[in-house]
Amino acid sequence: MAKEMQTKPERQLTFVVDLNKCIGCQTCTVACKRLWTSGPGQDFMYWRNVETAPGTGYPANWADKGGGFKNGELQKGRRPTLMEYGVPFNFDYQARLFEGGKDRVRPSPTARSGPNWDEDQGAGEFPNNYYFYLPRMCNHCTKPACLEACPNDAIYKRAADGIVVINTEQCKGAQECVQACPYAKPYFNQIAQKANKCIGCFPRIEKGVATACVAQCVGRAMHVGFIDDANSSVHKLVKTWKVALPLYPEKGTEPNVFYIPPAFGPMVEDDKGNIGSEPKIPMSYLVKLFGADVQRATATLREERAKRMNNAPSDLMAVLIGHRSADMMISPLT
Ligand code: SF4
Ligand code: SF4
Ligand code: SF4
Ligand code: F3S
Repeated sequence: MAKEMQTKPERQLTFVVDLNKCIGCQTCTVACKRLWTSGPGQDFMYWRNVETAPGTGYPANWADKGGGFKNGELQKGRRPTLMEYGVPFNFDYQARLFEGGKDRVRPSPTARSGPNWDEDQGAGEFPNNYYFYLPRMCNHCTKPACLEACPNDAIYKRAADGIVVINTEQCKGAQECVQACPYAKPYFNQIAQKANKCIGCFPRIEKGVATACVAQCVGRAMHVGFIDDANSSVHKLVKTWKVALPLYPEKGTEPNVFYIPPAFGPMVEDDKGNIGSEPKIPMSYLVKLFGADVQRATATLREERAKRMNNAPSDLMAVLIGHRSADMMISPLT
């Protein structure tokens, strides 16, 4: 029996990220970083990161690293290189702030990459260039490739909430989890010689408090809850309305982070400024990210938004707007 089948959680913590609302402010990134990854060897770890799409992402080229499952078989994948993570920046604050060395406060010249390195670059030619922000974290997958790959059984899926956790006591530094995760979300700490990854803020979840990334989201673009709770916004968006989709579903890990695809962006325009009827973000790109079902999902989103613009009620738009933060988050545990 595949290892990931040995742990069927009683409940599954689930996240939904609304790409129409994320403003790329990185507040969630910083909230996670300050809370969990400020220790030795963790400089480059962004359990939570927000990247510009289209773009190389973080670590660079992660979407091409391999891993996951193909026809049910675990794919080995590769470890990102140091340069794909980028060398942590070195700022000479002393020189800049106190010694007038205005040219010396620059990233290390060896830096070639970093979190959101290609910020707002996107793709396409003016005036039809486009981009959006793609927040990423561990997907707490139903079929975690990381768990399947670890030769030391150091990764487990928690029975109570389905959060996937690395037991650092048990981790022997094999790094096969880093290779196998197709989302590049386990990070290897070279000082501790242990892998670390998003822990789903489980100490908060156990108290019925939302994860730091969701709680701090300035754009109110995130939802978190249990998928079996029919009253939760995650259930309504994933199960009832079916407008929240996993990223790269073909990687075979069955993510539990879902995305509301960007459906309300500007339309193409010609060089005289005449507005056309096609969105600037090509459907082919969204299909590449979220699979063919994204066409139905974006159509539903646009139909429901049109209702609202005509002053008719829309339950879907009400859920996405999230008039009360409490309705978007697990609280209390039910
Ligand atoms: Fe494991 Fe990667 Fe899935 Fe997270 S996203 S559970 S690290 S396979
Ligand atoms: Fe970080 Fe917690 Fe969000 Fe995971 S759930 S990305 S640990 S803030
Ligand atoms: Fe996007 Fe919210 Fe994160 Fe800001 S805090 S980058 S709006 S998900
Ligand atoms: Fe296992 Fe990854 Fe540690 S494969 S031993 S959890 S580095």
